[in-house]
Amino acid sequence: MAGKNVGSNDVAGAVLPKAVWGKGSYVHDAQGKAYIDGSGGPAVYCIGHGNEEVNAAIAAQMSKIAHGYRYNFTTDPLEELTEIVAARCGGTLTRMVFVTGGSEAVESCLKLALQYHAGRGEMSRRRFISRERSWHGNTLGALSVSGFLERRAAFEGALVEGSRISPANAYRAPEGVSDLAAWYARELEDEILRVGAAHVAAFIFEPVVGAAGACVPAPAGYAKAMREVCDRHGVLMIADEVMCGSGRSGYWRALEEDGVEPDIMSIAKGLAAGYLPLGAAVYSRRVAEVIDGTHGGPMTGHTFTGHTACCAAGVAVQKIVAREKLVERVREKAGLLRRLMAEAVADIESIGDIRGRGFFQAFEIVENRETKKPFAASRKLSLRIRQRALELGLICYPVGGIVDGVNGDGVILAPPFNASDAELGEIAGKAGEAIRSVLAE
Ligand SMILES: Cc1ncc(COP(=O)(O)O)c(C=O)c1O
Repeated sequence: MAGKNVGSNDVAGAVLPKAVWGKGSYVHDAQGKAYIDGSGGPAVYCIGHGNEEVNAAIAAQMSKIAHGYRYNFTTDPLEELTEIVAARCGGTLTRMVFVTGGSEAVESCLKLALQYHAGRGEMSRRRFISRERSWHGNTLGALSVSGFLERRAAFEGALVEGSRISPANAYRAPEGVSDLAAWYARELEDEILRVGAAHVAAFIFEPVVGAAGACVPAPAGYAKAMREVCDRHGVLMIADEVMCGSGRSGYWRALEEDGVEPDIMSIAKGLAAGYLPLGAAVYSRRVAEVIDGTHGGPMTGHTFTGHTACCAAGVAVQKIVAREKLVERVREKAGLLRRLMAEAVADIESIGDIRGRGFFQAFEIVENRETKKPFAASRKLSLRIRQRALELGLICYPVGGIVDGVNGDGVILAPPFNASDAELGEIAGKAGEAIRSVLAE
């Protein structure tokens, strides 16, 4: 039964349906209603729900041992997943700390960067540069580097001080700039020089911005230009691929498409596809050499770091993703998804932009297409679209505050990598219907 979301941590206070079971691209509630999962929840459930192979792998591991604590044991799933992730990353990203989610992964990335500089005797490099319109997580460190006004407001004064530069958004680019990558790279370099390179630990960014921007890919050449600036000043590059990574953008690492390898990278959501909580901070050989050589290993981790059953879930999911060539499928079908989305909203005047990569795409809704002015936050468009979509039997991921941290509405679609063409059509069609119907009110 639907009921007040008792004990909920949902600030919207919505009355939520009760999820009972899921299979493939559909979730079913206690009243027998089916919802197509057009966003994999918050871009998590990348192989759909109720996968028996994954469930069996988890059960098999649980019947042997749930968790071999990291200070006492290594385990087969931990070792196997390390090999799989290193192979999928390619290049020098071969080392990792497994954690239980995206915020922990980002925290670990930040700490690895600090530890690297400490190991090199550069204790002054403590500051992080991040971007406005970014989301890196809910723990205090990850929140400190997040550029999301509304989510930070209640915690201001207790957050770690850092620098924030512009979001890289071709739809809302600085006026009169033709070479966006160069402009943004100059901004990063100016900030490094302003605070002094000797004080900067790392630049952290989402290769495709998720909840804070609604699937904003960086302009062509951006990641390479930022990498060059980082290298020039001894600043590490941290790619937060919690949402856009693990295949979601059509490459296993989102930055693969940009031809860039970061020094440190966070992953989570799609890694174990929501079957069990899992994330990782992955880091390069260069970073590892310093850390190993000085401290003997990463000084970050938790009780459940490398949790055996969680790693077993990750192994099972990643085997399916590889065997069924699902990352390749996402890349191939991204154009179809974009076309279906465009068709679904062709008659809606307030669609300002459709953007994203792979199966990570979004609509931006604006009051005025010419000026790109957003609707006022007081209209609560994104919350109402989420509610209307649920009524229509669609799970999507509407986000607010994407223009200035308070105003601006987007609707993210992040279907399972194995959603059929017909399912992609249903997702796009229902999303269009939900947006149209809320705007007509
Ligand atoms: C880019 C990014 N980083 C970090 C996080 C935090 O992940 P979690 O919610 O699993 O702690 C999120 C969550 O949405 C995210 O999108």
